[in-house]
Amino acid sequence: MKSGLRILVVGSGGREHALVWKLKESPRTERIFCAPGNAGIAQQAECVSIPGSDLSGLADFAEREEIGLTVVGPEMPLAEGIVDAFQERGLRIFGPSRAAALLETSKIWCKQTLSKHNIPTGCFAAFDDVTDALTYAETQEPPLVVKADGLAAGKGVTVAATFEEAQTAIKAAMVAGAFGDSGRRVLIEEYLEGPEVSIMALADGENLLRLPASQDHKPIFDGDKGPNTGGMGCYSPVPLLSDDLAEQAMETIMRPTMAAMAAEGRPYVGCLYGGLILTDEGLKALEFNCRFGDPESQVVLPRLGGDLVDLLEAALDGQLGDGELPSDRGAAVCVVMASGGYPGEYQTGKLIHGLDSLESTRDVVVFHAATTKTDEGLVTSGGRVLGVTGLGDTLPEAIDAAYGAVDQIGFDGAYWRRDIGRRAGEVG
Ligand code: GLY
Repeated sequence: MKSGLRILVVGSGGREHALVWKLKESPRTERIFCAPGNAGIAQQAECVSIPGSDLSGLADFAEREEIGLTVVGPEMPLAEGIVDAFQERGLRIFGPSRAAALLETSKIWCKQTLSKHNIPTGCFAAFDDVTDALTYAETQEPPLVVKADGLAAGKGVTVAATFEEAQTAIKAAMVAGAFGDSGRRVLIEEYLEGPEVSIMALADGENLLRLPASQDHKPIFDGDKGPNTGGMGCYSPVPLLSDDLAEQAMETIMRPTMAAMAAEGRPYVGCLYGGLILTDEGLKALEFNCRFGDPESQVVLPRLGGDLVDLLEAALDGQLGDGELPSDRGAAVCVVMASGGYPGEYQTGKLIHGLDSLESTRDVVVFHAATTKTDEGLVTSGGRVLGVTGLGDTLPEAIDAAYGAVDQIGFDGAYWRRDIGRRAGEVG
């Protein structure tokens, strides 16, 4: 029998809560910590107030507490080299090296690599000079996609319906510095049309084990209107992605990307997240993330069969099989409850009601994205506050479970989309 482990999860949002929740389910988990975590995570893990940016502080903690497995949630510590820093000290950590995280941290490098290895993706051009970017944009038929090269917390992408909109986006990134250094170089891409789907897979440097597919709802308003957010909810499975199509995605995009990373001297270990689009010409890669998706993890992990601790260990040992992981639950839908005003300005410190009565509900899990404990009770502490995940045998059951729970929770100014998961019915 394998020994028990002390586990550390790095991060503080809904994705990290879902990771803690799933890892805690494993009989292998002896003790679980989260740095820095949040008030909801603190109900399941021991939270330690070390920020994700303090790589040596986190490694010191892992050494001192004899952590056997660290799992990294957000992209920033990966971009800064947390995996390299831990490995230099002989600590086991799940995630890509800094070199492999380039797949997410430079959109330009990602597209150039996809193109070099003949992996299907849209046409693009990369610029580090604003005049060149504007001249190119003027010659292209709109709509166009303008993307900051580096990390921009999900805000670096503009779909420009006209040249004037593209011009504004290019100048905002390259001249006004809207994304700091991340926007000094930009990608201009052809706009691809079709439904998007996220495929996450566990990677051991060579093999990929596919997790259930999911679909995100990024715009703030119902009907996919308004500005993009970090994600207002998601659902899994994705009816449009038949088993055949999912296998095609693995064969034409996901596995070739793994092979490309190895060929580029950046072997990929961690969660490989492919943002794909189903166009009239077939599946294409929009972009890759080097981590578990958020909020996608809040539907994918609750559906997942199998022991996540064993799976992550197998990935670190280069022992993942190829294939697809089984699902325990038929469907999951996550509705994000946000602070009024998000993704613009919003207030925090609002008392949250109604969570206690949901605790014993089998078909609902509430993941906390931004909550803090006060003497009065739990209060909001960010834009996306809670991810309310409903489970069921089918998507309609999961939708009912999620919205039934949302109706019981409240805080001043709470906002959520009313149509999460409904899109699945339109394409199914
Ligand atoms: N939901 C998109 C992401 O995780 O980046």
